[in-house]
Amino acid sequence: MPPESPRRPSRALSGIQPTGRFHWGNYFGAIRQYIDLQPAADPAAARGAEAVDEAYYFIADLHALTTVRDPARLRTLVHAAAVDLVALGLDPVRAVLFVQSDVPEVTELTWLLMTVTPMGLLERCHAYKDKKTRGLPADAGLFTYPVLMAADILAYDATVVPVGEDQVQHIEVCRDLADKFNSLYGDVFMLPQPRLVVGGAKVPGTDGQKMSKSYENTIDVFEDLAAQKKKIMRITTDSRPMEDPKDPETDHLFELFSLLAPAADRDRMAELYRRGGFGYGEVKKALVEAAADHFAAARARRAEIESDPARIEAILAAGARRARAKAGEVLDRARRACGLARGKPAPRPRGVRP
Ligand code: ADP
Ligand code: TRP
Repeated sequence: MPPESPRRPSRALSGIQPTGRFHWGNYFGAIRQYIDLQPAADPAAARGAEAVDEAYYFIADLHALTTVRDPARLRTLVHAAAVDLVALGLDPVRAVLFVQSDVPEVTELTWLLMTVTPMGLLERCHAYKDKKTRGLPADAGLFTYPVLMAADILAYDATVVPVGEDQVQHIEVCRDLADKFNSLYGDVFMLPQPRLVVGGAKVPGTDGQKMSKSYENTIDVFEDLAAQKKKIMRITTDSRPMEDPKDPETDHLFELFSLLAPAADRDRMAELYRRGGFGYGEVKKALVEAAADHFAAARARRAEIESDPARIEAILAAGARRARAKAGEVLDRARRACGLARGKPAPRPRGVRP
């Protein structure tokens, strides 16, 4: 095995599907972490354990094609996702922000990886398995979804992939495929590590189960405040009498409040739960306000960015140029290694296996 490179740049990469508008689960479970991981504006100021040298974030429109079949809607969702991410704090100077399909190198790399992918590995992957067990039709796009995801990661020599728990299996697949390709053709790909969201908690939806588009229990980050208020006021609660003291730790309404409210308000609310003698309506009203305050700055930024659609497209075009430069380099390495690029020698080992 080649020696480990002493100065390998750390590079975070993640993708998010534009299958709907972002909800609180997406924000607290994924997006917030992407934003926290961006390299600091002043690199000297941020050499903490969390800091990475580079960050690549993309909108996974190719993956979304397996579910969004309306072209106009897909276009709208991709644009909105970019606006939302920038409004929430993703800085296109500190991170490379792009759209997955703007980097065709990734789809070619997908094919190279497909040739080393055992069927059994994909059959065990949960997105496909879940559909099959529920008797739903699944297409080859869904079946090979983890291979495209592996290409997404390997194309940029990513070292850390911030994801929610549900994506860890896919990172394992990515590592398996990279390892298989490397053992056949030499040291081509870097093996990435997943980075789980701190705490890893599942954000509950309005019905108390995991917040998810598929359960229709979401509260969107940027939805109209009046609509948001209606949804919050309809959050399901138990029917214990008002006088009873309640354990805040087991209550999904309190869990949402804790994510959105400042720490002091959260502690006061926990106290109120333990004392009893209050109605859930009060908590809901407090949650309406906490949510509005939490995202007030992001909403203002969103309104400003949205007023200039050309600006977001320019950001995405610049991101795609930077992403293609990196992916082109990795694809070239992979093509040469497996004998596709005639007249070009195989790449030298790079000593990059973490
Ligand atoms: P959905 O379930 O609504 O379709 P996605 O599967 O598109 O959401 O999720 C995108 C990202 O957001 C994933 O990384 C996932 O881990 C995270 N995520 C989604 N819902 C939640 C949740 N309720 N709690 C924590 N993280 C979540
Ligand atoms: N599959 C991921 C999700 O549904 C999105 C995704 C696509 C991704 N490619 C990726 C995440 C590469 C991390 C790295 O959330």
